[in-house]
Amino acid sequence: MQGFPAKGDPCVSLGEPTMGTHHAVTWPPAPIKTERLVLRESVPEDRPAFIDLFASPEVGVYIGGAQRREDLERSAPEVPGRRFGSFVVDLGGTMIGMITFDRRDPQRLGRLLPEGGEAELGYLFLPESWGRGYAAEACSAALDWFAGTHPGEPVVLTTQTANQASMRLVTKLGFTEVERFEEFGAEQWFGVWNAQSSSPTGPPPRIR
Ligand SMILES: CC(C)(COP(=O)(O)OP(=O)(O)OC[C@H]1O[C@@H](n2cnc3c(N)ncnc32)[C@H](O)[C@@H]1OP(=O)(O)O)[C@@H](O)C(=O)NCCC(=O)NCCS
Repeated sequence: MQGFPAKGDPCVSLGEPTMGTHHAVTWPPAPIKTERLVLRESVPEDRPAFIDLFASPEVGVYIGGAQRREDLERSAPEVPGRRFGSFVVDLGGTMIGMITFDRRDPQRLGRLLPEGGEAELGYLFLPESWGRGYAAEACSAALDWFAGTHPGEPVVLTTQTANQASMRLVTKLGFTEVERFEEFGAEQWFGVWNAQSSSPTGPPPRIR
C-alpha cells in the first residue's frame, strides 16, 4: 500500500512521511482528546478500518476511486498509517477516520510559498460516521496541534469543488480560498488556514 488513491491524488497518503522528522516536535504526541473523539497514533487493531477506508467506493468518489480490497488485504502494512503527521480518529475505541499532515509536492499546481512544500491537511472518514460533525471536531483539534507544534506556519488543503461535504468542512474549519485549478480532470479548490486568522477571532468550526 504505497499511496491512496490509485490515480495519484495525494489528498491522503499511507506512503512515506513527507513532513520529515522535526527534532523539536514530539511524535507521536500524547493522545488528543476532544469532546467525543481521540486523535492518536495508529495501532495494529486499526488495520481492518484502514482497509475499509481505502476500499470504500463512497470514500473514493472525489479522490480517485477505491482500491481493491484483496490488494489492500495483501499489501497493507501491519500497522498502516504509522508515521509523522498521521492521526487515527477514534470514537469509543474504534477508528472512524484518519487525518494527515504532509508536505505538498512543489511540482503540483496550487502553491502558497514560492518554494512550495507547504504543510497540507488531508482527511478520510468512514461513511458510517458522516453527518455527525466528527470530521470538523477532529480536524479542528488536529489544526490546534499543528499550530502549537509549528507556530506561525500556514496549512494548505486541496479538495474538489464537487466534493460538497469537504467544501462545507473547509469553510467550517476557517480555510480561505487561494485559487482554483484543474487537476485529475476536475476543478480543485486550494485554500489556506492560519492559526491567527482562524482562531479565536476567525470563523469558528461549527462544532456542537
Ligand atoms: C469530507 C468528509 C470528511 C466530511 O465528513 P462530514 O461527516 O460530512 O463532515 P462533518 O464531520 O463536518 O459533519 C458535518 C455534518 O454533520 C452534521 N452534524 C450532526 N451533528 C453534528 C454536531 N454535533 N456537530 C457538527 N455537525 C453535526 C451537520 O449538520 C453537518 O452537516 P452539513 O455540513 O450539511 O451542515 C467525508 O465526507 C469524507 O470522509 N469523505 C471522503 C473522503 C474525502 O473526500 N476527503 C476529502 C479529501 S480532500
